[in-house]
Amino acid sequence: MPVTDILQKKNFSREDIIRLLSITDKSEQEELLKKAYSVKEQIIGRKVYLRGLIEFSNLCQKNCLYCGIRTGNTKVTRYSASDEEILEVAKFAHENQFTSLVLQSGERYGRDFTKRITSLITKIKQIATPEFRITLSVGEQSFDTYKEWFDAGAERYLLRIETSNEELYRKIHPDNKLHSFKTRLQCLENIQKAGYQTGTGVMIGLPFQTTENLADDLFFIKKMNIDMVGMGPYLEHADTPLYMYKNSLLPLYERLNLSLRMIAVLRIMMPDINIVATTALQAITPMGREMGLKAGANVLMPNLTPAKYRGNYLLYDNKPCIDEDADECIDCLANRVKMIGEEIAYNNYGDSIHFTKRGIRTQQTLTR
Ligand code: 5AD
Ligand code: SF4
Ligand code: FES
Repeated sequence: MPVTDILQKKNFSREDIIRLLSITDKSEQEELLKKAYSVKEQIIGRKVYLRGLIEFSNLCQKNCLYCGIRTGNTKVTRYSASDEEILEVAKFAHENQFTSLVLQSGERYGRDFTKRITSLITKIKQIATPEFRITLSVGEQSFDTYKEWFDAGAERYLLRIETSNEELYRKIHPDNKLHSFKTRLQCLENIQKAGYQTGTGVMIGLPFQTTENLADDLFFIKKMNIDMVGMGPYLEHADTPLYMYKNSLLPLYERLNLSLRMIAVLRIMMPDINIVATTALQAITPMGREMGLKAGANVLMPNLTPAKYRGNYLLYDNKPCIDEDADECIDCLANRVKMIGEEIAYNNYGDSIHFTKRGIRTQQTLTR
């Protein structure tokens, strides 16, 4: 079926999505991306929401086969930023009119870690206005931990499902209890149950991944009623087990284009969610993140990690901005956003419209 006809439909079938994801013709791809951008423009406007990102520690107890900071990679210099350093970044973000900070790290468990995050949330809430939104991205935890952090004031949580296909999930993770697909799914559900605006996402262009898998990922995101999505190309890292499949991967530019089509199809399927133009897009080409915005994404996450740590948080090779500091990245991104005719929505919390509409805001969120 011609792309034009599919794009007229109200709901895409699995076949439609597979057809859209398989586009190779340049003008068909442009048609898809243009449609997605117009949906985004209509619902969200020509606006980009910023979230400051701090990768506060690369200590991780897991051993995901694709990730550069997996515990098995002994070449990594491990770090954990101090509370003071993290609070400094939160202050910086607030002073630079960010309304949101994402705290990301490798996965760690235990009462000490939980307590530390709880106390950090409280402290960040004190320096920034009470409305400053905190997003956590620290992996799989118990329901009680998720709830404790939510009650302390964190409102959003990112946990990528990585792939919604259990078999593929098993191929890209070690075969043990710490890397269970079922647990990951349960965690995502618990995050929603705890009251968070919930973010998930997948990697695109993984070894063994099919277009059917990716179509199912989009259905998964829709079925789970997800509020925020961050998905980007899988990029190989030389010191990881998956690196051995590097010759079987899609060429980088095709991975980039496939990622853009994933963003575009999802935007059309879920017009009111927040979609991030991920840094991984920029690892393929300098304008990658802008291309993501033009394909229907509406969120950028400038990296505010202190420059001295950046070189040690390399999940994949060729990560951009590792020599820049926060000021440089913000100016650079602001210019890029202007260049594509959009503007940064300062002083706007940028809550997912989808989440607000879901109407499950608790008393606590309402009064905050
Ligand atoms: N390529 C792309 N994305 C990666 N991530 C981890 N390793 C890689 C890689 N090699 C992503 C995962 C994880 C997020 C923090 O980074 O999706 O959830
Ligand atoms: Fe750890 Fe996350 Fe990397 Fe897996 S993807 S090894 S959990 S930092
Ligand atoms: Fe980091 Fe341009 S976005 S320097």
